[in-house]
Amino acid sequence: IQSVIMESLIGLVNKIQRACTSLGDFGDADGKGVGLPTLWESLPSVAVVGGQSSGKSSVLESFVGRDFLPRGSGIVTRRPLVLQLHKMEEGQVEYAEFLHLPNRRFTDFSLVRKEIEDETDRVTGKTKQISPHPIHLSIYSPSVVNLTLIDLPGLTKVAVEGQPDSIVQDIENMVHSYVAKPNCIILAISPANQDIATSDAMKLAREVDPTGERTFGVLTKLDLMDKGTNALDVLEGRSFRLQRPWVGVVNRSQADINRNVDMILSRRKEREYFATSPDYSHLASRMGSEYLAALLSKHLESVIKSRIPSITSSINQTIDELEAEMNHIGRPVAVDAGAQLYTILELCRAFDKVFKEHLDGGRPGGDR
Ligand code: GDP
Ligand code: NA
Ligand code: MG
Repeated sequence: IQSVIMESLIGLVNKIQRACTSLGDFGDADGKGVGLPTLWESLPSVAVVGGQSSGKSSVLESFVGRDFLPRGSGIVTRRPLVLQLHKMEEGQVEYAEFLHLPNRRFTDFSLVRKEIEDETDRVTGKTKQISPHPIHLSIYSPSVVNLTLIDLPGLTKVAVEGQPDSIVQDIENMVHSYVAKPNCIILAISPANQDIATSDAMKLAREVDPTGERTFGVLTKLDLMDKGTNALDVLEGRSFRLQRPWVGVVNRSQADINRNVDMILSRRKEREYFATSPDYSHLASRMGSEYLAALLSKHLESVIKSRIPSITSSINQTIDELEAEMNHIGRPVAVDAGAQLYTILELCRAFDKVFKEHLDGGRPGGDR
């Protein structure tokens, strides 16, 4: 029963996150595209950060067990991607769905990739600019855990041709605005074949989370380290102390991708890598992308649970604000905006009720 409640908590928070985004332009005066800022900020999320080519997309694809993210050289991720994973019963057919295309179910994941590319260009033009306005993608599958992740543009040091020099700073500012939120869980990706002291991800994580309380360190490319070296100092927490565990992963190499090695095979190769590695076999049960996804799902659940009182209070505040807004505008100028306001108001009321029930159930003799 406990796990049913917890699953639905991640599901509920997913829905509020989606509602905040669909209200984006309307609810957000500064045009940043994350509407209802107070409510949005009260919701825990997991943000994926790292330098360009550190392996962010590869880690997300391993979580899903599918190839679906745009790839290429240069700055590929130019809008945040809010990726919501929903676990289905075994035997059901997996599919993907975008918030901006509510009536279309994607079962061909190469079309998902194409749609992310097209939708990125729709907002940024073909200019290779970035935009903080997120794309929302839900994936329903028997082989995922319940989890919401935000894929952010990779940190970079130089603009490529055709991009303004300011893009380097713009990306850093955007990523910073996500990870600075105290409710943001940081998935900091660093490649093992580079010195951890120079990791963009760890530099940023240390800035916004100096005690390492909400940072999960992920080390990719263990297979690409120089022969005779290993990453035990990092993985065992000696190089870079975090309060959360470090997890090492081995994603598909570029050669594997070119050869179309499928994700199921690559998950198996990753498990074999750890099980048979002379350096890491003693850590094998705590390594790899499947372990990492389960760890994050569990952590996100517990964070949401611990934040219920503050989420409830910001939902109540939002209800008050939305009611005032509805009274004020009376008949909405734009029918769309009015309908969306109404939808989110209804959602908030529903959540408030469920959260309160949860609190009542969870705290005998509680005063709510
Ligand atoms: P992103 O820019 O951070 O999203 O990085 P990608 O996930 O696109 O990975 C960049 C390149 O590194 C791709 O060619 C991947 O195949 C490769 N790569 C990522 N992780 C690993 C890994 O663990 N091992 C190996 N051998 N290659 C990897
Ligand atoms: Na990095
Ligand atoms: Mg990427």
